[in-house]
Amino acid sequence: VRQDYEEVASYVAYYVKERINQFQPTPERPFVLGLATGSSPILVYHKLVDFYAAGQVSFENVVTFNTDEYVGLPKDHPQSYHTFMWNHLFKHVNIKKENVHILDGNANNLDEECRKFEAEIAKLGGIELFLGGIGPDGHIAFNEPGSSLTSRTRVKTLAYETIIANARFFGGDISRVPKLALTVGVATVMDAREVMIVITGAHKSLALAKCVEEGVNHMWTVSAIQMHPKGLIVCDEDATLEL
Ligand code: GLP
Repeated sequence: VRQDYEEVASYVAYYVKERINQFQPTPERPFVLGLATGSSPILVYHKLVDFYAAGQVSFENVVTFNTDEYVGLPKDHPQSYHTFMWNHLFKHVNIKKENVHILDGNANNLDEECRKFEAEIAKLGGIELFLGGIGPDGHIAFNEPGSSLTSRTRVKTLAYETIIANARFFGGDISRVPKLALTVGVATVMDAREVMIVITGAHKSLALAKCVEEGVNHMWTVSAIQMHPKGLIVCDEDATLEL
């Protein structure tokens, strides 16, 4: 628990930088990093960009996999997760374009796109560190309440609550929020050797309580982290209100 979002972001960015550096990635043995979008990781990404600019971390041998993407939004749409990732992180660091993996929500065959994504992760020997956030309903990536805890990358219909929560990015207009997304599964996230989840704000306090104080269950998919041998939740004081 850290005092506020600023301190949470500093902790997480420092942690990610240290893990990459300790790993000493090479082209043959890259550091495989899982990343999420949303407001939670924004400051983390900006701090990583600062570390890069200060010569304290390199992304040259880092390979990334993003958790999710909307179906049907053009890649260059201001609210696509492609745009988000390039604007907040990728275009400011030395990551190689071919090392970035973001699901294509416009692929002709969405199921095939999801299968390919899982195969790419497996080919690289799995994800070393997964950095994620949650929605107020406890969803991890877009694994909405009711998602199987053994789920893999797939097409998912967004919960009404998520559509409302994300409408703020679409001018507050619910009708403009895509209703489908591609998302990694709960098991895809939990297969990572380390999972780090950022939870901040009072609006996430019920989800945090369900995640750590109740049983593992598919209605609050982030609760699966209880079973992870190396799962870490980094939260601010506000998020602990219901604990
Ligand atoms: C979306 C994303 C999730 C993210 C969540 C949290 O639903 N699909 O991956 O964790 O938003 O968003 P925020 O950090 O803005 O609260």
